[in-house]
Amino acid sequence: MSYKTVLFKINDSIATVTINRPNKLNALNKETIQELHEVISDIEDNPDVKVIVLTGSGEKAFVAGADISEFADFSEKKGKKLAAKGQELLFDFIERLSKPVIAAINGFALGGGLELAMACHFRIASDNSKMGLPEVSLGVIPGYGGTQRLPQLVGKGRAMEMIMTAAMITAEQAKNYGLVNHVTSQEELLPLCYKIGSKISNNSPVAISYAIKAINAGFMNTVNGYEQEIDAFGACFGTGDFAEGTTAFLEKRKAEFPGS
Ligand code: COA
Repeated sequence: MSYKTVLFKINDSIATVTINRPNKLNALNKETIQELHEVISDIEDNPDVKVIVLTGSGEKAFVAGADISEFADFSEKKGKKLAAKGQELLFDFIERLSKPVIAAINGFALGGGLELAMACHFRIASDNSKMGLPEVSLGVIPGYGGTQRLPQLVGKGRAMEMIMTAAMITAEQAKNYGLVNHVTSQEELLPLCYKIGSKISNNSPVAISYAIKAINAGFMNTVNGYEQEIDAFGACFGTGDFAEGTTAFLEKRKAEFPGS
């Protein structure tokens, strides 16, 4: 399957998905959001893939935001629909994916770009990266989950300041804020993501999918995270992965998870 705005490849159980509109700094238009949804859905269903790395093409940007040219003339109704549809198709979809998604932030991650990185399960940035939610500078607010996920990651006060000032922060500052886990050179960005991805891929995919669910539940107002954790913890006991993981530990050997 080939896509117009997205590239992907699979190596050693890690899929790399690259947003590919470098001339527009990988800005997210309707087509890119739809294609990302499709490619990530396919990868989720592919039993050969255990981890997904999401990045942007070119040296300048991860994603410089939602494509401003597409929504500049939208009505209230159309604006609301844009946010709802995008959240459902891409942002909530990635956050709730059963496989880990790492954002490899390789340059500007602004507006919808930072929101996309924040919807991923964690983030690693190159040292040239700049991050921010500049929407209020355009007279809108973040509409792809930014008002919720930024305070979760950096705390309410810092999120307020970032959103209100519309200013960009550096990769180093983002690391100090806890917005990204690691900062590295541009050349080392993907190798570091693959190194961490390969560590993840040694572990039980079923347990990881339950961990994602349980961690996410703690941030949902309607769901009790502790109850979700108890349910997910119990469910692990019925899986082949749990049987293999515990048996291998007791037999002092490396686990070979069946993935079921
Ligand atoms: N939507 C649509 N097009 C975008 C875009 C966006 N969010 N971000 C960048 N582009 C386009 C530019 O319009 C330009 O296209 P053109 O060459 O056809 O004119 C191209 O990408 C390159 O961007 P340019 O602005 O020339 O690069 P720069 O290095 O001078 O500046 C940024 C880089 C990121 C500072 C600047 O592009 C910018 O401010 N982008 C918008 C960021 C934003 O507000 N995002 C939130 C949207 S809600």
